Amino acid sequence: MANIIDGRAMAGRLLDSVANNVCELRARHGLHPALAVVLIGDDPASDIYVRNKLKACKKVGIASREHRLPATTTQRDLMALVDALNRDGDVHGILVQLPLPKHLDAQPVLDAIAPEKDVDGFHPVNVGRLTTAGGGLVPCTPLGCMMLLDSVIPDFRGLDAVVIGKSNIVGKPVALLLLERECTVTVTHIETRNLADIVRKADIVVVAAGHAGLVRGSWVKPGATVIDVGINRVVDASGKTRIVGDTCFGAMDHAAAVTPVPGGVGPMTIACLMANTARAAQMAAMARECEYG
Ligand code: GUN
Repeated sequence: MANIIDGRAMAGRLLDSVANNVCELRARHGLHPALAVVLIGDDPASDIYVRNKLKACKKVGIASREHRLPATTTQRDLMALVDALNRDGDVHGILVQLPLPKHLDAQPVLDAIAPEKDVDGFHPVNVGRLTTAGGGLVPCTPLGCMMLLDSVIPDFRGLDAVVIGKSNIVGKPVALLLLERECTVTVTHIETRNLADIVRKADIVVVAAGHAGLVRGSWVKPGATVIDVGINRVVDASGKTRIVGDTCFGAMDHAAAVTPVPGGVGPMTIACLMANTARAAQMAAMARECEYG
């Protein structure tokens, strides 16, 4: 039976360490880290995610600024808000919750966020750093996936990794992080043929397909580690709504370690957002001290 990687416990430890960093930033540099969260429209899932992010801010002592805008917000209004937040010296992190309502174009908005405040790691400068020298802000879910993997795998070199899903938010950055650790990485997507055969060869499986039960137990190589990023709402036999991942329960019989859903990647994503915000604030403190001596 696989080891279940406890994402909640790991996130709790990370949040404790972020809370210490926040205390130190306030005491040593007189700087109170602050995150601006922008939510447009009334998508219920986004509403829950944003509430959880704001709750985490409170827990670690990061100040939060919530900007809730109506679904009718124009591109111009949103760009003006991002511009104002970029200029605001008291804001260290900016997060625009995705997806945006259909009439808005996300990419120009993400491109407009100052890279040093881009705690989501979606700005092209941070994406570029991820593909080259590193050192930029790293997207939260991929960062959380790597920490979860690090807790069970001592050496990644030469391992076969498969990433299922090629999104900009998870699939592509996680593939780059695994490549940086010298895994042999295969990225699969909706058009991939013989997914089962590819998964069967993998020592590491990161699945972010948004498809309940996509990865069957029989696909998982004995001893593999499975990181399940999926969050799917399903109605079970008794009519109750449950949250399940992208992996069938049978994976437990084959894998060495798996992340549960809920309680795996989800809590780590939020904890990494807090870590990125504290890091952005720390960089701002250093930049300020370099400027003023
Ligand atoms: N929507 C789903 N995941 C994310 C995320 O990591 N960041 C933002 N901004 N929106 C999301």
